[in-house]
Amino acid sequence: MSLPEQFRKYVNGWLVAGSLCLFACAPKSVQETYLIPRPAETRLTGGVCPIDSAELFSGQPSERIKLVLEDNIGSGNPEAYQLLVTSGGIELRANTDAGLFYGMQTLRQLYHDGNVPCVEITDAPRFRYRGLHLDVSRHFFPKEEVMKLLDVMSRYKLNRLHMHLTDAGGWRFESDKYPKLTRETAFRTESDWRKWWDGKDRRYLPEGTPGAYGGYFTKEDLRAIVAYAAERHIEVIPEVEFPGHSEEVLAAYPELSCSGKPYVNGDFCIGNERSFTFMEDILTEVMEIFPSPFIHVGGDEAGKSAWKTCPKCQALMRREGMKDVDELQSYMIHHADSFLTAKGRHLIGWDEILQGGLAPEATVMSWRGEEGGIKAARMGHDVVMTPGNYMYLDFYQADPKTQPYAIGGYTPIKKVYSYDPIPADSLTEEEQRHILGVQANTWTEYIQTADHLEYMMFPRALAVAEIGWTPQALRDWDDFKPRLNAHIPRLQAQGINCFTLSDELEVTMKVDTTKRQIAVKLDAEKYPAEIRYTTDGTSPTTASALYESPITVTDSARIVAAIFRDGTPQGTPTQKSIDYHRAINRPVHYYNKLYSGYMAGGMNALVDGYRGGLTYLDGHWQGYLDNLDCSIDMGESTELRSVSVRFMQLIGPGVFQPGEVELLTSDDGESFTSRGVVKTTIDPKDPDLSFQTYSFEGNWKARYVRMKAKRTQGGFIFADEIVVW
Ligand code: ACM
Repeated sequence: MSLPEQFRKYVNGWLVAGSLCLFACAPKSVQETYLIPRPAETRLTGGVCPIDSAELFSGQPSERIKLVLEDNIGSGNPEAYQLLVTSGGIELRANTDAGLFYGMQTLRQLYHDGNVPCVEITDAPRFRYRGLHLDVSRHFFPKEEVMKLLDVMSRYKLNRLHMHLTDAGGWRFESDKYPKLTRETAFRTESDWRKWWDGKDRRYLPEGTPGAYGGYFTKEDLRAIVAYAAERHIEVIPEVEFPGHSEEVLAAYPELSCSGKPYVNGDFCIGNERSFTFMEDILTEVMEIFPSPFIHVGGDEAGKSAWKTCPKCQALMRREGMKDVDELQSYMIHHADSFLTAKGRHLIGWDEILQGGLAPEATVMSWRGEEGGIKAARMGHDVVMTPGNYMYLDFYQADPKTQPYAIGGYTPIKKVYSYDPIPADSLTEEEQRHILGVQANTWTEYIQTADHLEYMMFPRALAVAEIGWTPQALRDWDDFKPRLNAHIPRLQAQGINCFTLSDELEVTMKVDTTKRQIAVKLDAEKYPAEIRYTTDGTSPTTASALYESPITVTDSARIVAAIFRDGTPQGTPTQKSIDYHRAINRPVHYYNKLYSGYMAGGMNALVDGYRGGLTYLDGHWQGYLDNLDCSIDMGESTELRSVSVRFMQLIGPGVFQPGEVELLTSDDGESFTSRGVVKTTIDPKDPDLSFQTYSFEGNWKARYVRMKAKRTQGGFIFADEIVVW
């Protein structure tokens, strides 16, 4: 992953300039300070302060950097700081060591080639919780890698590392009371998740078995991680999963499951007192290692089915007057909540802990969208926002065709950056105070190596850092983009195998039904980017139009665009069909029930002019759990030459092509004539993201155009647009 040459020149150009001309080359704008996260207030005062890099990076006290602890910096926010750099020296003030630490991080980012620009910065975080999560169960990552992540996190003022320590992939920490957890279920037969999870031989292996894959942290490892994090003002939040996602525990201690047998259940038996003893014992050991006020107890995705027939669970339900199995989960989480509260800690769990009743002291981590977080905040509970569609770093960050296999989803950095953890429309100001902050999650089913882990986490984690820190009013993608680009070589210099940003272009459309045109905007993650495009479907060359402002399409265009560097297009050109077609804004009648969850642009979504992108969640794809059967009223008898509809397939989350699509036409909207059937050419087992356009060409005259798409695979079908010419 080498840095493109022109970009390197651009970045280095700035650095070199800084060393050649002391005063003239101080940053001219706040953006040119290239700080991430962007501080709350930055005022460039002109000129630079020469300084030896050793003074900034050695960790030793420096005579030229005056550190002052005092009260009332940034209204007393414990993480606030003030930084004053003049040509004569540097003064850093804060209320706490954490504030001084963050001020130092800013200073280090400001440093270029022997100088720091003269600046006055007054800074404090927007949120007190700015986190990353790391799943070390599905794949194990050793202490050294965790410390490397902590180093990078601290440079960007992230202050929480949530370690997902236990799950079906393997138990990852040493327990004195339950030694079988690591002796028997920290290793497994296969490293590769798909081979292991979907394979016939999904087994754990005893520690020491030749060829076994896995690992775990000793208590000493974990203490070292906690101490290393604390030096960087990062709190490590341990997660131990209850009551679901516990296959490995129940393989080692099957007596804690409803069946009493290994490899049968994934949920603890709630009717068994010993499950509670186990939970208390494990949480006690966890609290001995982790001083974090928050202790995460999981709570997500319990299957709950065994509880419905388990005599012990059923007896408990009767005894406690419980109406459903959700209350069994809630019973266990309530128990953990009282236990942790009595020890002076706080329970935090995934948003499913709301099901069956939220425990009184619980903090909710909202991952299935923001709904759980909103509900909890309204109930007066604290919340950390981590909605999957924005904050999951195991999702693809660019076109899946160009990326290593991932779990699905699509969270390119611009999407991540666009997230605001405060759902201002849904919460009162008082309720908003319960939003402690934001976290991004990296689940590692398909992430096997440290290199791949870094590739998924960075640079997207920098967007998360800015969301967590910078005032919302100062957050702007176009402002972030040059700073982001400047940090790619910095991440690489720190030995991080980061994604070097996409060569693809984001295409956004704005349909104007009054002017009957579509404005098409092209945006690159890379900066600067020379974008050239054509509208006739041919590949762009250096002679093609240079993109400067949105392209207007009034009829039909096939836009092909690429980033050019030194006269050469980068990557595969981005292509998009744009049609201001004849059915735009015409009324659509559906013959089948629509699925309310994926309505995209509403009843008009299929003829609104908007084409979908790489994810069915982008608001332009309409999803159906039935056949699609709809007709469009063209308003009058209309000559029709071409009608098409496009579907997507992504079988991971259950999105399939229809088996076939039929076009029909009618003059009266009652009696329809078939104009042909097109079958899918995509294998329903093909796991890759794919698209098929079903096209019908002819010479018909009709008022009503009807499209029927047969759902043949049981999952969803998703269409973005019916195009009529
Ligand atoms: C989760 O992604 N299951 C919290």
